[in-house]
Amino acid sequence: MPDAGPGPGPVPEHVAIIMDGNGRWAQRRGLPRAAGHRAGAESIRDVIKACRAWGIRYLTLYTFSTENWKRPRDEVSALMDLLVEYLDRELPELQREGVQVRAIGRWRDLPPRQRAKVEAAVEATRSNDRLTVAFALNYGGRQAIVDASRALAEEVAAGRLRPQDIDEEAMRRHLDTAGMPYPDLLIRPSGELRISNFLLWEVAYTEFWFARVLWPDFRRENLREAIEDFRKRRRTFGALPEQSG
Ligand code: IPE
Ligand code: IPE
Ligand code: MG
Repeated sequence: MPDAGPGPGPVPEHVAIIMDGNGRWAQRRGLPRAAGHRAGAESIRDVIKACRAWGIRYLTLYTFSTENWKRPRDEVSALMDLLVEYLDRELPELQREGVQVRAIGRWRDLPPRQRAKVEAAVEATRSNDRLTVAFALNYGGRQAIVDASRALAEEVAAGRLRPQDIDEEAMRRHLDTAGMPYPDLLIRPSGELRISNFLLWEVAYTEFWFARVLWPDFRRENLREAIEDFRKRRRTFGALPEQSG
């Protein structure tokens, strides 16, 4: 069966996605916002399958931001319920597919039931290595930098690290994304053109791809389009493009 992949050529090693537009998707159908969040789970399913099939090694999904607590209580609680529902339903298949589940952000501050589910999913999939899916939960890029800075300061205070040894690599090792390469490609559907406190440190040289499609309508075809676009870009990381001839 043709899988509508991006065709021969390199794929990004790490794709990050801001899963946005669920509310608008629901509103357009006259449905409650929670219905949009629920529908978004199907997009996650398809994108994970595609990443796995196409050889993408890391996928980071912005699932709940530190700012999303400002939403009405019933929407927050619907999102929390959906997180548990999603993990209960999808874990067996993620397991079969060799997906390692990770969590980034202050996910340990989630309510006890959510925290326990996330912890269990991370633990159960620890040795899987086909694809790592990092769920950004109670995640904020500024908070992540604050937390890493605090961890560095504690090491200095304990005499294990000298201030002059704090460099980019030390910072990187203390971020919750440690062990993952920086994202090559960041995708934001829904038409918004901003970063909304996602992966601030990590996206320094990430390629951005925006589209109007709403997250619940996002499928592997959209991911393929993003990858094809990504392949046309020239990444020089501040250097000059390679001279030819
Ligand atoms: C993204 O969809 C999901 C979360 C932020 C949890 P939204 O709920 O932000 O959808 P829009 O942006 O209102 O359409
Ligand atoms: C970003 O979307 C957070 C997630 C997708 C989890 P938001 O909808 O919360 O971002 P803003 O408010 O449009 O910047
Ligand atoms: Mg939004």
